[in-house]
Amino acid sequence: MRNLMITGGAGFIGSNFVRYMLERYADYRVVVYDKLTYAGNLDNLKDVAERFADRYAFVKGDICDAATVRGAIQAHEVDAIVNFAAETHVDRSIMDPDAFIQTDVYGTYVLLEAARELGLERYHQISTDEVYGHVPQGASKESDPVAPRSPYAASKASGDLMVNAYFITYGLPVTITRGANNIGPYQYPEKVVPLFVTNAIDDIPLPLYGDGLQVRDYHYVLDHCEGIDLVLHKGEIGGVYNIGTGAEMRNVDMAHLLLDLLGKPESLIQPVRDRAGHDRRYSLDVSKLRALGWEPAHTCEDAVAETVRWYAENEWWWRPIKSGDHYQEYYKQQYEGREVGD
Ligand code: NAD
Ligand code: DAU
Repeated sequence: MRNLMITGGAGFIGSNFVRYMLERYADYRVVVYDKLTYAGNLDNLKDVAERFADRYAFVKGDICDAATVRGAIQAHEVDAIVNFAAETHVDRSIMDPDAFIQTDVYGTYVLLEAARELGLERYHQISTDEVYGHVPQGASKESDPVAPRSPYAASKASGDLMVNAYFITYGLPVTITRGANNIGPYQYPEKVVPLFVTNAIDDIPLPLYGDGLQVRDYHYVLDHCEGIDLVLHKGEIGGVYNIGTGAEMRNVDMAHLLLDLLGKPESLIQPVRDRAGHDRRYSLDVSKLRALGWEPAHTCEDAVAETVRWYAENEWWWRPIKSGDHYQEYYKQQYEGREVGD
Protein backbone atom coordinates (compact mmCIF):
# COMPACT_ATOMS: atom_id res chain seq x y z
CA MET A 1 0.00 0.00 0.00
CA ARG A 2 1.51 3.28 -1.13
CA ASN A 3 -1.26 5.11 -2.97
CA LEU A 4 -4.28 5.73 -0.78
CA MET A 5 -7.63 7.10 -1.86
CA ILE A 6 -9.17 8.76 1.18
CA THR A 7 -12.85 9.28 0.56
CA GLY A 8 -14.45 11.96 2.73
CA GLY A 9 -10.94 13.31 3.29
CA ALA A 10 -12.17 16.92 3.37
CA GLY A 11 -14.26 16.28 6.49
CA PHE A 12 -13.24 16.32 10.15
CA ILE A 13 -11.59 12.95 10.79
CA GLY A 14 -10.64 12.37 7.16
CA SER A 15 -8.60 15.59 6.94
CA ASN A 16 -6.82 14.80 10.21
CA PHE A 17 -6.06 11.32 8.86
CA VAL A 18 -4.69 12.67 5.56
CA ARG A 19 -2.30 14.99 7.43
CA TYR A 20 -1.31 12.23 9.85
CA MET A 21 -0.53 9.70 7.08
CA LEU A 22 1.45 12.13 4.90
CA GLU A 23 3.51 13.20 7.93
CA ARG A 24 4.08 9.64 9.04
CA TYR A 25 4.87 7.90 5.72
CA ALA A 26 7.25 9.79 3.45
CA ASP A 27 6.65 7.37 0.56
CA TYR A 28 2.83 7.46 0.61
CA ARG A 29 0.71 9.38 -1.84
CA VAL A 30 -2.84 10.42 -1.01
CA VAL A 31 -5.74 11.34 -3.24
CA VAL A 32 -8.70 12.82 -1.40
CA TYR A 33 -12.01 12.02 -3.08
CA ASP A 34 -14.81 14.15 -1.64
CA LYS A 35 -18.16 15.56 -2.73
CA LEU A 36 -17.72 18.67 -0.56
CA THR A 37 -21.12 18.54 1.09
CA TYR A 38 -21.92 21.13 3.77
CA ALA A 39 -19.46 19.19 6.01
CA GLY A 40 -16.60 18.99 3.50
CA ASN A 41 -14.25 21.94 3.55
CA LEU A 42 -10.99 22.49 1.66
CA ASP A 43 -9.88 24.83 4.45
CA ASN A 44 -9.37 21.63 6.47
CA LEU A 45 -6.62 20.65 4.00
CA LYS A 46 -5.14 24.05 3.19
CA ASP A 47 -1.83 23.37 4.93
CA VAL A 48 -1.71 19.82 3.52
CA ALA A 49 -2.03 21.07 -0.07
CA GLU A 50 0.90 23.44 0.53
CA ARG A 51 3.18 21.13 2.53
CA PHE A 52 2.68 17.97 0.50
CA ALA A 53 2.00 19.34 -2.99
CA ASP A 54 3.99 16.50 -4.64
CA ARG A 55 2.19 13.66 -2.80
CA TYR A 56 -1.35 14.99 -2.41
CA ALA A 57 -4.18 15.40 -4.92
CA PHE A 58 -7.85 16.29 -4.62
CA VAL A 59 -10.73 14.99 -6.73
CA LYS A 60 -14.19 16.42 -6.28
CA GLY A 61 -16.67 13.57 -6.63
CA ASP A 62 -19.55 11.63 -5.12
CA ILE A 63 -18.88 8.08 -3.87
CA CYS A 64 -22.25 7.14 -5.40
CA ASP A 65 -20.91 8.01 -8.87
CA ALA A 66 -19.28 4.77 -10.06
CA ALA A 67 -17.64 6.18 -13.20
CA THR A 68 -15.92 9.05 -11.36
CA VAL A 69 -14.81 6.72 -8.56
CA ARG A 70 -13.22 4.29 -11.06
CA GLY A 71 -11.65 7.16 -13.01
CA ALA A 72 -10.00 8.53 -9.86
CA ILE A 73 -8.71 5.10 -8.82
CA GLN A 74 -7.16 4.51 -12.23
CA ALA A 75 -5.79 8.03 -12.73
CA HIS A 76 -4.04 7.96 -9.33
CA GLU A 77 -3.02 4.27 -9.41
CA VAL A 78 -4.76 3.76 -6.11
CA ASP A 79 -4.05 0.53 -4.26
CA ALA A 80 -6.18 1.05 -1.14
CA ILE A 81 -9.34 2.94 -0.22
CA VAL A 82 -9.97 4.28 3.27
CA ASN A 83 -13.62 5.31 3.33
CA PHE A 84 -14.54 8.19 5.66
CA ALA A 85 -17.20 9.58 3.29
CA ALA A 86 -20.58 9.61 5.00
CA GLU A 87 -23.44 11.70 6.20
CA THR A 88 -22.53 11.79 9.88
CA HIS A 89 -24.87 13.84 12.05
CA VAL A 90 -27.54 11.88 13.94
CA ASP A 91 -29.90 14.88 14.23
CA ARG A 92 -29.81 15.47 10.47
CA SER A 93 -30.57 11.77 9.92
CA ILE A 94 -33.68 12.21 12.05
CA MET A 95 -34.77 15.28 10.05
CA ASP A 96 -34.08 13.71 6.63
CA PRO A 97 -32.59 10.22 6.28
CA ASP A 98 -32.44 10.16 2.47
CA ALA A 99 -28.82 11.30 1.96
CA PHE A 100 -27.72 8.85 4.68
CA ILE A 101 -29.10 5.89 2.77
CA GLN A 102 -27.58 7.17 -0.48
CA THR A 103 -24.07 7.84 0.78
CA ASP A 104 -23.59 5.53 3.75
CA VAL A 105 -25.21 2.48 2.15
CA TYR A 106 -25.25 2.83 -1.66
CA GLY A 107 -21.99 4.82 -1.74
CA THR A 108 -20.26 2.11 0.30
CA TYR A 109 -21.47 -0.49 -2.20
CA VAL A 110 -20.13 1.57 -5.14
CA LEU A 111 -16.69 1.79 -3.52
CA LEU A 112 -16.65 -1.93 -2.71
CA GLU A 113 -17.61 -2.82 -6.25
CA ALA A 114 -14.84 -0.59 -7.67
CA ALA A 115 -12.32 -2.10 -5.23
CA ARG A 116 -13.35 -5.61 -6.34
CA GLU A 117 -13.33 -4.93 -10.07
CA LEU A 118 -10.02 -3.07 -10.02
CA GLY A 119 -8.36 -5.57 -7.68
CA LEU A 120 -7.35 -3.18 -4.90
CA GLU A 121 -5.09 -4.41 -2.12
CA ARG A 122 -7.35 -3.13 0.66
CA TYR A 123 -10.71 -1.57 1.39
CA HIS A 124 -10.96 -0.04 4.86
CA GLN A 125 -14.32 1.11 6.21
CA ILE A 126 -14.57 3.79 8.90
CA SER A 127 -17.51 2.83 11.08
CA THR A 128 -18.88 3.84 14.45
CA ASP A 129 -19.76 2.57 17.92
CA GLU A 130 -23.36 3.63 17.15
CA VAL A 131 -23.90 0.43 15.15
CA TYR A 132 -24.10 -1.50 18.46
CA GLY A 133 -27.01 0.66 19.61
CA HIS A 134 -27.70 1.74 23.18
CA VAL A 135 -25.51 -0.16 25.68
CA PRO A 136 -27.12 -0.01 29.16
CA GLN A 137 -24.22 -1.84 30.80
CA GLY A 138 -20.91 -3.47 29.95
CA ALA A 139 -19.02 -2.73 26.76
CA SER A 140 -19.56 -3.73 23.12
CA LYS A 141 -17.21 -6.30 21.65
CA GLU A 142 -16.62 -6.61 17.91
CA SER A 143 -18.43 -9.95 17.92
CA ASP A 144 -21.64 -8.41 19.33
CA PRO A 145 -24.57 -8.16 16.93
CA VAL A 146 -25.31 -4.76 15.44
CA ALA A 147 -28.52 -3.17 16.77
CA PRO A 148 -28.66 0.37 15.38
CA ARG A 149 -31.48 2.69 16.48
CA SER A 150 -31.16 5.94 14.48
CA PRO A 151 -31.30 6.29 10.69
CA TYR A 152 -27.61 7.32 10.82
CA ALA A 153 -26.60 4.27 12.84
CA ALA A 154 -28.71 1.97 10.67
CA SER A 155 -27.10 3.29 7.49
CA LYS A 156 -23.61 2.82 8.96
CA ALA A 157 -24.46 -0.71 10.14
CA SER A 158 -25.76 -1.51 6.66
CA GLY A 159 -22.47 -0.31 5.20
CA ASP A 160 -20.56 -2.62 7.58
CA LEU A 161 -22.70 -5.59 6.61
CA MET A 162 -22.03 -4.96 2.93
CA VAL A 163 -18.28 -4.69 3.58
CA ASN A 164 -18.38 -8.05 5.34
CA ALA A 165 -20.43 -9.54 2.49
CA TYR A 166 -17.73 -8.51 -0.02
CA PHE A 167 -15.10 -10.18 2.17
CA ILE A 168 -17.06 -13.43 2.52
CA THR A 169 -18.43 -13.62 -1.03
CA TYR A 170 -15.65 -12.18 -3.17
CA GLY A 171 -12.65 -12.44 -0.85
CA LEU A 172 -12.12 -8.66 -1.02
CA PRO A 173 -9.38 -7.76 1.51
CA VAL A 174 -11.33 -5.56 3.90
CA THR A 175 -10.97 -4.20 7.43
CA ILE A 176 -13.41 -2.19 9.53
CA THR A 177 -12.84 0.13 12.49
CA ARG A 178 -15.65 1.29 14.77
CA GLY A 179 -14.74 4.52 16.52
CA ALA A 180 -16.23 6.31 19.52
CA ASN A 181 -16.92 10.10 19.55
CA ASN A 182 -13.97 12.04 18.17
CA ILE A 183 -13.02 15.56 19.18
CA GLY A 184 -10.28 17.86 17.93
CA PRO A 185 -9.49 20.37 15.16
CA TYR A 186 -11.79 20.91 12.15
CA GLN A 187 -14.97 19.28 13.53
CA TYR A 188 -18.05 20.90 12.02
CA PRO A 189 -19.77 22.92 14.77
CA GLU A 190 -23.01 20.94 14.69
CA LYS A 191 -21.47 18.18 16.87
CA VAL A 192 -21.82 18.77 20.57
CA VAL A 193 -18.26 19.74 21.57
CA PRO A 194 -17.49 22.30 18.85
CA LEU A 195 -21.08 23.57 19.06
CA PHE A 196 -20.84 24.13 22.83
CA VAL A 197 -17.33 25.62 22.65
CA THR A 198 -18.13 28.11 19.89
CA ASN A 199 -21.49 29.04 21.43
CA ALA A 200 -19.81 29.60 24.81
CA ILE A 201 -17.12 31.83 23.25
CA ASP A 202 -19.98 33.99 21.91
CA ASP A 203 -22.10 33.75 25.12
CA ILE A 204 -24.85 31.87 23.25
CA PRO A 205 -26.77 29.19 25.25
CA LEU A 206 -25.56 25.58 25.16
CA PRO A 207 -28.58 23.42 24.16
CA LEU A 208 -28.37 20.32 26.38
CA TYR A 209 -30.67 17.48 25.27
CA GLY A 210 -33.04 15.92 27.82
CA ASP A 211 -31.57 15.31 31.28
CA GLY A 212 -27.97 15.58 29.98
CA LEU A 213 -27.09 12.23 31.58
CA GLN A 214 -26.30 10.46 28.31
CA VAL A 215 -22.82 8.95 28.22
CA ARG A 216 -20.25 9.11 25.42
CA ASP A 217 -16.58 8.14 25.09
CA TYR A 218 -14.86 11.26 23.70
CA HIS A 219 -11.42 10.60 22.30
CA TYR A 220 -8.86 12.72 20.48
CA VAL A 221 -9.05 12.52 16.70
CA LEU A 222 -5.34 11.76 16.28
CA ASP A 223 -5.61 8.78 18.64
CA HIS A 224 -8.38 7.52 16.37
CA CYS A 225 -6.13 8.09 13.32
CA GLU A 226 -3.34 6.06 14.93
CA GLY A 227 -5.75 3.21 15.56
CA ILE A 228 -6.89 3.23 11.92
CA ASP A 229 -3.25 3.28 10.75
CA LEU A 230 -2.47 0.28 12.96
CA VAL A 231 -5.43 -1.73 11.66
CA LEU A 232 -4.56 -0.80 8.08
CA HIS A 233 -1.04 -2.19 8.52
CA LYS A 234 -1.42 -4.91 11.14
CA GLY A 235 -5.11 -5.76 11.28
CA GLU A 236 -6.44 -9.15 10.33
CA ILE A 237 -8.10 -9.19 6.89
CA GLY A 238 -11.86 -9.39 7.35
CA GLY A 239 -11.45 -8.11 10.93
CA VAL A 240 -13.46 -5.52 12.84
CA TYR A 241 -11.70 -3.35 15.48
CA ASN A 242 -13.23 -0.99 18.04
CA ILE A 243 -11.41 2.30 18.72
CA GLY A 244 -12.09 4.32 21.88
CA THR A 245 -10.63 4.95 25.31
CA GLY A 246 -13.27 3.29 27.47
CA ALA A 247 -13.59 6.56 29.48
CA GLU A 248 -17.16 7.71 30.08
CA MET A 249 -18.36 11.31 30.11
CA ARG A 250 -21.93 12.54 30.70
CA ASN A 251 -23.09 15.39 28.47
CA VAL A 252 -23.88 17.61 31.45
CA ASP A 253 -20.34 17.10 32.79
CA MET A 254 -18.89 17.88 29.37
CA ALA A 255 -20.88 21.14 29.30
CA HIS A 256 -19.52 22.13 32.74
CA LEU A 257 -15.95 21.20 31.80
CA LEU A 258 -16.08 23.30 28.62
CA LEU A 259 -17.55 26.30 30.45
CA ASP A 260 -14.87 26.00 33.16
CA LEU A 261 -12.08 25.91 30.60
CA LEU A 262 -13.46 28.98 28.86
CA GLY A 263 -14.24 30.86 32.09
CA LYS A 264 -17.94 31.13 31.20
CA PRO A 265 -20.96 30.86 33.55
CA GLU A 266 -23.02 27.68 34.07
CA SER A 267 -26.12 29.76 33.38
CA LEU A 268 -25.30 29.34 29.67
CA ILE A 269 -26.55 25.72 29.86
CA GLN A 270 -30.04 25.60 28.33
CA PRO A 271 -32.03 22.35 28.69
CA VAL A 272 -33.87 21.53 25.46
CA ARG A 273 -36.23 18.78 24.28
CA ASP A 274 -34.42 15.47 23.93
CA ARG A 275 -33.29 13.87 20.65
CA ALA A 276 -35.80 11.30 19.36
CA GLY A 277 -34.66 7.73 20.09
CA HIS A 278 -31.61 9.12 21.92
CA ASP A 279 -29.07 6.37 22.71
CA ARG A 280 -28.19 6.96 26.36
CA ARG A 281 -24.88 5.19 26.45
CA TYR A 282 -22.21 3.78 24.17
CA SER A 283 -19.25 1.86 25.48
CA LEU A 284 -16.55 -0.01 23.58
CA ASP A 285 -14.33 -2.89 24.61
CA VAL A 286 -11.05 -1.94 22.94
CA SER A 287 -8.94 -4.93 24.05
CA LYS A 288 -8.62 -6.25 20.48
CA LEU A 289 -6.96 -3.03 19.28
CA ARG A 290 -4.82 -2.79 22.41
CA ALA A 291 -3.52 -6.28 21.62
CA LEU A 292 -2.13 -4.83 18.37
CA GLY A 293 -0.16 -2.33 20.50
CA TRP A 294 -2.47 0.71 20.48
CA GLU A 295 -2.68 3.11 23.45
CA PRO A 296 -4.36 6.51 23.27
CA ALA A 297 -1.89 9.37 23.81
CA HIS A 298 -4.56 11.68 25.28
CA THR A 299 -6.82 11.33 28.30
CA CYS A 300 -10.35 12.61 27.79
CA GLU A 301 -9.46 15.77 29.78
CA ASP A 302 -6.34 16.41 27.61
CA ALA A 303 -8.40 15.89 24.48
CA VAL A 304 -11.04 18.37 25.63
CA ALA A 305 -8.44 20.99 26.67
CA GLU A 306 -6.60 20.63 23.35
CA THR A 307 -9.86 20.96 21.43
CA VAL A 308 -10.98 24.06 23.33
CA ARG A 309 -7.58 25.66 22.70
CA TRP A 310 -7.81 24.95 18.96
CA TYR A 311 -11.27 26.52 18.60
CA ALA A 312 -10.23 29.54 20.67
CA GLU A 313 -7.20 30.07 18.42
CA ASN A 314 -8.84 29.31 15.07
CA GLU A 315 -11.85 31.53 14.73
CA TRP A 316 -10.86 32.05 11.05
CA TRP A 317 -12.00 28.47 10.50
CA TRP A 318 -15.36 28.31 12.28
CA ARG A 319 -16.75 31.84 12.10
CA PRO A 320 -17.44 31.72 8.34
CA ILE A 321 -19.21 28.36 8.80
CA LYS A 322 -21.40 29.54 11.66
CA SER A 323 -22.35 32.80 9.98
CA GLY A 324 -23.20 31.10 6.66
CA ASP A 325 -26.79 30.68 5.44
CA HIS A 326 -26.66 26.88 5.54
CA TYR A 327 -25.62 26.75 9.18
CA GLN A 328 -28.01 29.50 10.27
CA GLU A 329 -30.94 27.73 8.61
CA TYR A 330 -29.99 24.39 10.18
CA TYR A 331 -29.60 25.93 13.63
CA LYS A 332 -33.01 27.56 13.43
CA GLN A 333 -34.70 24.35 12.31
CA GLN A 334 -32.94 22.26 14.94
CA TYR A 335 -33.10 24.47 18.03
CA GLU A 336 -35.73 27.21 17.68
CA GLY A 337 -38.55 26.80 20.24
CA ARG A 338 -36.93 23.69 21.75
CA GLU A 339 -36.17 25.14 25.21
CA VAL A 340 -37.66 23.39 28.25
CA GLY A 341 -37.75 24.39 31.93
CA ASP A 342 -36.29 27.64 33.26
P1 NAD B 1 -17.75 14.80 8.48
O1 NAD B 1 -19.24 14.96 8.41
O2 NAD B 1 -16.92 15.84 9.13
O3 NAD B 1 -17.18 14.60 6.99
C1 NAD B 1 -17.74 13.76 6.06
C2 NAD B 1 -17.05 14.00 4.72
O4 NAD B 1 -17.61 13.12 3.75
C3 NAD B 1 -17.20 15.42 4.19
O5 NAD B 1 -15.97 15.90 3.71
C4 NAD B 1 -18.21 15.26 3.06
O6 NAD B 1 -18.06 16.24 2.05
C5 NAD B 1 -17.88 13.87 2.57
N1 NAD B 1 -19.01 13.24 1.87
C6 NAD B 1 -20.29 13.12 2.30
N2 NAD B 1 -21.04 12.50 1.38
C7 NAD B 1 -20.21 12.19 0.35
C8 NAD B 1 -20.39 11.52 -0.88
N3 NAD B 1 -21.59 11.06 -1.27
N4 NAD B 1 -19.33 11.36 -1.70
C9 NAD B 1 -18.10 11.84 -1.33
N5 NAD B 1 -17.89 12.50 -0.18
C10 NAD B 1 -18.91 12.67 0.66
O7 NAD B 1 -17.52 13.38 9.12
P2 NAD B 1 -16.54 12.87 10.26
O8 NAD B 1 -17.09 13.23 11.58
O9 NAD B 1 -15.16 13.24 9.91
O10 NAD B 1 -16.74 11.28 10.08
C11 NAD B 1 -15.96 10.59 9.13
C12 NAD B 1 -16.30 9.11 9.20
O11 NAD B 1 -16.06 8.62 10.51
C13 NAD B 1 -17.76 8.82 8.92
O12 NAD B 1 -17.82 7.62 8.18
C14 NAD B 1 -18.38 8.62 10.29
O13 NAD B 1 -19.49 7.77 10.23
C15 NAD B 1 -17.23 8.02 11.04
N6 NAD B 1 -17.19 8.24 12.49
C16 NAD B 1 -17.27 9.51 12.99
C17 NAD B 1 -17.13 9.71 14.35
C18 NAD B 1 -17.18 11.10 14.95
O14 NAD B 1 -17.15 11.23 16.17
N7 NAD B 1 -17.21 12.17 14.18
C19 NAD B 1 -16.94 8.62 15.21
C20 NAD B 1 -16.88 7.34 14.65
C21 NAD B 1 -16.98 7.17 13.29
O1 DAU C 1 -20.27 7.70 18.66
C1 DAU C 1 -19.71 8.02 17.41
C2 DAU C 1 -20.61 9.00 16.74
O2 DAU C 1 -20.44 10.23 17.46
C3 DAU C 1 -20.32 9.22 15.27
O3 DAU C 1 -20.57 8.02 14.59
C4 DAU C 1 -21.20 10.33 14.70
O4 DAU C 1 -20.86 10.59 13.36
C5 DAU C 1 -20.98 11.58 15.53
O5 DAU C 1 -21.86 12.59 15.10
C6 DAU C 1 -21.22 11.30 17.01
O6 DAU C 1 -22.62 11.03 17.28
P1 DAU C 1 -23.34 11.56 18.62
O7 DAU C 1 -24.77 11.63 18.39
O8 DAU C 1 -22.84 10.81 19.80
O9 DAU C 1 -22.65 13.01 18.68
P2 DAU C 1 -23.27 14.48 18.91
O10 DAU C 1 -22.09 15.39 19.01
O11 DAU C 1 -24.32 14.81 17.95
O12 DAU C 1 -23.93 14.33 20.35
C7 DAU C 1 -23.16 13.91 21.46
C8 DAU C 1 -24.09 13.88 22.66
O13 DAU C 1 -24.48 15.22 22.98
C9 DAU C 1 -25.37 13.11 22.42
O14 DAU C 1 -25.75 12.42 23.60
C10 DAU C 1 -26.39 14.20 22.11
C11 DAU C 1 -25.90 15.39 22.92
N1 DAU C 1 -26.17 16.72 22.34
C12 DAU C 1 -25.82 16.92 21.04
C13 DAU C 1 -26.07 18.13 20.44
C14 DAU C 1 -25.70 18.37 19.00
C15 DAU C 1 -26.73 17.71 23.11
O15 DAU C 1 -27.01 17.52 24.30
N2 DAU C 1 -26.96 18.92 22.51
C16 DAU C 1 -26.66 19.17 21.21
O16 DAU C 1 -26.91 20.29 20.73
